[in-house]
Amino acid sequence: MKAVEIKPKIYWVGGIDWDLRYFHGYKTPRGSTYNAYLIIDEKITLVDTVKSYMFEEMLERIKTVIDPKKIDYLVVNHVEMDHSGSVKTFLEAAPQAKIVTSPMGKKGLERHFKKEWDYLLVKSGEELSLGNRTIKFVQTPMVHWPDSMVSYIPEEKLLLPNDAFGQHIASPERFDDELGWHIMHESAANYYANIVLPYGDQVKKALETISQLPIDMIAPSHGLIWRANIPKIIDAYTNWANHKTECKALIVYDTMWGSTKEIATALASGLDATGIPVITRSLQTSHMSEIMSDVLVSKGILVGSSTLNNGMLSSVAGFLNYLKGLRPQKRLGFAFGSYGWGGQGAKNVQEVLQSMSWELPAEPINIQYVPDPAELDFVRETGMKIGRIIKG
Ligand code: FEO
Repeated sequence: MKAVEIKPKIYWVGGIDWDLRYFHGYKTPRGSTYNAYLIIDEKITLVDTVKSYMFEEMLERIKTVIDPKKIDYLVVNHVEMDHSGSVKTFLEAAPQAKIVTSPMGKKGLERHFKKEWDYLLVKSGEELSLGNRTIKFVQTPMVHWPDSMVSYIPEEKLLLPNDAFGQHIASPERFDDELGWHIMHESAANYYANIVLPYGDQVKKALETISQLPIDMIAPSHGLIWRANIPKIIDAYTNWANHKTECKALIVYDTMWGSTKEIATALASGLDATGIPVITRSLQTSHMSEIMSDVLVSKGILVGSSTLNNGMLSSVAGFLNYLKGLRPQKRLGFAFGSYGWGGQGAKNVQEVLQSMSWELPAEPINIQYVPDPAELDFVRETGMKIGRIIKG
């Protein structure tokens, strides 16, 4: 397990989590990495650690460069356990190391570990000299927790932004150009949609600060390091933070006996007739975290449910709960469904969409038992109407 030199005397010493398939509700089919960075200078510094079960892998990589006992500082950019999980065991291996973190970071570490450690607290804009190089700290609260901050090394034009710009990818490659823009963009979008999406305003502030810094490498705490596509990923982040979407429709539904699926298909046909690209996702076959990538880019979001036990199907309720928590904005919504009696499924969908302050350009469609041809014609016309509104 070797370290990878990413800049002169700055090494990636993280852990590759090949088996990770689930990350607090988010499916991670490509696995992930937890990235830690070792800076060799007059003051030897480790930036972030790894999940607790990957500690030995990180330590082995550090040992290929230096005796861990010589490390002076441990920078904790973010307290979430995927990055701080090895702090305690690391400090046993590097007993001289002082923790450099924000006041909020210190509080978070104390709550997690119940330990009294040696801290150097830094605030936004403060700098720490390592000898030949400097770390400048910028607080980025809520990207992704209140304690989050980024580290910037001006002498190397190197940004260490922790969660921001991350992707859940386990791979032997370490740099974006080694894997290619398409996979990097898709994975970064999926990560943004499932982790960062609620914090667009905070991302915009962070981007404003970052835009003033000369940067030729962005080394996040998950996935690969950006060096070839920096303007492209910053552009993508700017669009996502501003909730910019494409003229696209996403239909998400679940169905009991096929009627809600028939309505979904007729809506798709109507949307398609207006030239709008349509993505259709059944919650029986797509995980909600996969669907969030479609939500990220789609202007129109149409959600359907059969009625079961006086409410939505639990799959639809779970999806809407997840969607609402991630707070996508500036979308057009539409609710639909089918029922035998009662009909609360589509009504409950409508209530959730209303609570998200989206534009709802048409009344919900709710059809009893099985739609007839005339009803399906009306559904198709409604799809066309929504398509025309999406086109603007
Ligand atoms: Fe990768 Fe917010 O932790």
